[in-house]
Amino acid sequence: MLIEVLPEISDAELEQFMQIMLTQYGHDFRGYAPASLKRRLGSVIKKYGLPGLTILNHRLLTQPEYIRYFINEITVSTTELFRDPSAWIAFRTQALPPLFTLPEIRIWHVGASTGEEVLSMAILLKEIGLYDKARIFATDIDDISIEKAAQARYPIRLKPLYEQNFQAVFPGKSLTQYTAESNNQLVFRPELLQNVKFLRHNIVTENPFGEFEVILCRNLLIYFTPALQDQVVTKLVDSLVTGGILMVGTKESLFWCSAAKRLVSVNDTERIFRKQR
Ligand SMILES: C[S@@+](CC[C@H](N)C(=O)[O-])C[C@H]1O[C@@H](n2cnc3c(N)ncnc32)[C@H](O)[C@@H]1O
Repeated sequence: MLIEVLPEISDAELEQFMQIMLTQYGHDFRGYAPASLKRRLGSVIKKYGLPGLTILNHRLLTQPEYIRYFINEITVSTTELFRDPSAWIAFRTQALPPLFTLPEIRIWHVGASTGEEVLSMAILLKEIGLYDKARIFATDIDDISIEKAAQARYPIRLKPLYEQNFQAVFPGKSLTQYTAESNNQLVFRPELLQNVKFLRHNIVTENPFGEFEVILCRNLLIYFTPALQDQVVTKLVDSLVTGGILMVGTKESLFWCSAAKRLVSVNDTERIFRKQR
């Protein structure tokens, strides 16, 4: 196995980085898990062939136009259409039915990345005839990912995986009814995004912007320390209506979160919860 050697980062350099991000740009990285933050910083430093974090800090201080690219480089944007298909099956069969009769379903994707999770939701809602009732908000700290999400175009090489995940959730159906191919890209039909608003939003430093029947915050909490997970989950639970659904990543736990006592489990394995009545 090839082990990537990344530059050393001292605590003092990391401290200086946090200060610059906070005071210059209003981004608070103090509650991100230090080991993975250092790894990401190390790979940015290596990408540009810099001698260490001090020079990157200087670039962040003196080149404000770089911040947009830096946020894209430092965050992990890994995602998939119908990522963890069994979680989507559980969401559809166990979490959604009580919401069927509502006049409107407001859905918030926190850390939506390049948009595949939002498209999964839009397709699922189309399949069960609920799309027209939905108002979907997709937010992320990363401008560049959000711009990609709004385009809903992906490299064609992803098609087999996305088709396979879709068919795991909807056996016997084909994703092709929702997509076209153009210039080596898999292009999703624009009507899937008709009820979707994309916004840049930092869940650590900014307040939620309303109440929601469903919140998905998947594969983001793992990058936070337990204390920050607790704060963020409290924010999310506060923004859910009573009876609303919270879905986190299948490898994430609400163990550290005081707000978990306001939730009941809908499906333990798939990490789907309902706010208690
Ligand atoms: C690994 S992706 C998860 C994407 C998708 N939710 C999924 O599960 O497939 C994590 C996303 O969280 C975003 N993120 C990181 N810190 C954030 C913050 N403070 N506020 C909002 N989004 C953040 C990253 O930019 C990235 O797009």
